[in-house]
Amino acid sequence: MAKPKTQFVCQNCGTVHSRWAGKCDGCGEWNTIVEEDPMGGIGGGPSRAPKKGRPVALTTLSGETEEAPRIHSGISELDRVTGSGFVRGSAVLVGGDPGIGKSTLLMQAAAALSRRGHRVIYVSGEEAVAQVRLRAQRLGAADTEVLLAAETNVEDILATLAEGKRPDLVIIDSIQTLWSDTADSAPGTVTQVRTGVQAMIRFAKQTGAAMVLVGHVTKEGQIAGPRVVEHMVDAVLYFEGDRGHHYRILRTVKNRFGPTDEIGVFEMSDIGLREVTNPSELFLGERNAKSPGAAVFAGMEGTRPVLVEVQALVAPTSLGTPRRAVVGWDSSRLAMILAVLEAHCGVRLGQHDVYLNVAGGYRITEPAADIAVASALVSSLAGTALPSDCVYFGEISLSGAVRPVSQTAQRLKEAEKLGFAGALLPASSAELPKSSASRWTEIEDLPDLVSRIAG
Ligand code: TYD
Ligand code: MG
Repeated sequence: MAKPKTQFVCQNCGTVHSRWAGKCDGCGEWNTIVEEDPMGGIGGGPSRAPKKGRPVALTTLSGETEEAPRIHSGISELDRVTGSGFVRGSAVLVGGDPGIGKSTLLMQAAAALSRRGHRVIYVSGEEAVAQVRLRAQRLGAADTEVLLAAETNVEDILATLAEGKRPDLVIIDSIQTLWSDTADSAPGTVTQVRTGVQAMIRFAKQTGAAMVLVGHVTKEGQIAGPRVVEHMVDAVLYFEGDRGHHYRILRTVKNRFGPTDEIGVFEMSDIGLREVTNPSELFLGERNAKSPGAAVFAGMEGTRPVLVEVQALVAPTSLGTPRRAVVGWDSSRLAMILAVLEAHCGVRLGQHDVYLNVAGGYRITEPAADIAVASALVSSLAGTALPSDCVYFGEISLSGAVRPVSQTAQRLKEAEKLGFAGALLPASSAELPKSSASRWTEIEDLPDLVSRIAG
C-alpha cells in the first residue's frame, strides 16, 4: 500500500513545501516548517450530498442590509476600533504578544456586553475556569452573567455553544489551543488552527453570533501564527504595547466593516485596563521640554490627533561605523532623513552616532513625522533646545522639499487645545485655521527648516 503523502507547512505564513527545509521560501523565517497531513482538515468525515443553493438578486436586497447589525460594548476605545461594535455573524481576530493583556481586554468587553443584556460565552483553552473567574473578580466582572467554559476541542466547543440559548458573542482564547478530531496534525499546527478557526467562523455565520478569536504572536513562529488566519476573518485587531510601559494600543489591521486606521488607547492598572480618552496628555506626560533634541510631533491616528514627543541624541562616535538606533519609528525612514540632511543641507552625521526614540514606547507609522524627526536631530546636533510650545509635522521628500500632509486643521486644533502656541508645518498646507494667538510657521524645504533651528 502506498504511504499517504504528507506536506510540509510553514507555521508562520502557511506556505506549503514538498519537502522539509530549514528556511521558508514564503516568509524567510527559519525552523518554521512542520510535516502535516494534507487531508487533515478537509477529508476524513462521511461524504455529504451536495446542497443546491438559491442565488438572490442584488437589487432585492436593498433596504434590508443597509447597516451591519452590531453589538456595542460601551467601551468607547474598543468600539471605535471595531467600527462602533462587533458585527453579528462576523469573526474578529485579536492578536498580540503573550502577556500583553488580550485576555484582560476581552474579559472586560465580555462583562460590559453582558451588563448590556447580551449573552456572552468565554471559552478559555489556556486557563481553567477557576483562574478565569479569579481574573474576572479582579476586574470587577465576577457579578456578570458571562458564561465560562474551559475547552480546547473544536467539536466539544461547538456542542457547548449549541446548548441552551444562542450566544450574541463568543470569545475563543486562544486559537492556538484549538484542536479538532478531524485533523490529524498536532495541536498548534497550521492545519489544526485553520480547521478550528474555520469551524468557529462557520458557527458565527450560521447563528449570527459575533466571534472573537484570540491569537498569540510569537517571534520564533513556534506555534501557528495568527497570520495564517488573517485572511479568513472579517477584522484583525492587534493589541500592542511595551511591557515597560503601562499603556496599550489596540490597532486595526483589517476591517471589512469599519475603518482600518483607528486606535484605541488603554492603560493597564491593577484592576484591569482603563480607557485613555486623551492619549496626547498621556504621551506628553513626562516631557522635559528644555533639553535639546526633543520635538513634539502632531500626528493623526485615524480620525484622532495624537501628540507625542520625538527624542534624538546625536553624539560623536568612537566606532568605525557610527551607530543608528531607532525605537518607535521606521529605521529606513531615519536613514533617508539623514541622507537628505547631508545631501541638501550640508548637515554631516557620518562621524556621529544617532539615537532616535519616540517617548512612552509609542510607535509612529506616519511619514508626516519626518519634520519632527529632522528638527529633533538638528536640535540635538546644534545643542539648542527647540521652543517648548511648538509642534512639528510634514513629510520630507528625497529632493529636500517639504510636502503637505492631510488633516492639518485637526492637528493644529489639538496642539492649541494642549497649550501649544506654535507649529512648524509645510508651506501650501490648505485649510489653515485663522487664529490670532498662534504662530503657524510654514516651511518651504529642509534647508529652510535647518536654518531656522540651527540659526
Ligand atoms: P493577560 O490578559 O493575561 O495577557 P494575554 O492574554 O495577552 O496573554 O494579561 C497579562 C498581564 O497583565 C499580566 O502580566 C498581569 C497584567 N494584569 C494587570 O496588570 N492588571 C490586571 O488587572 C490584570 C488582569 C492583568
Ligand atoms: Mg491570555
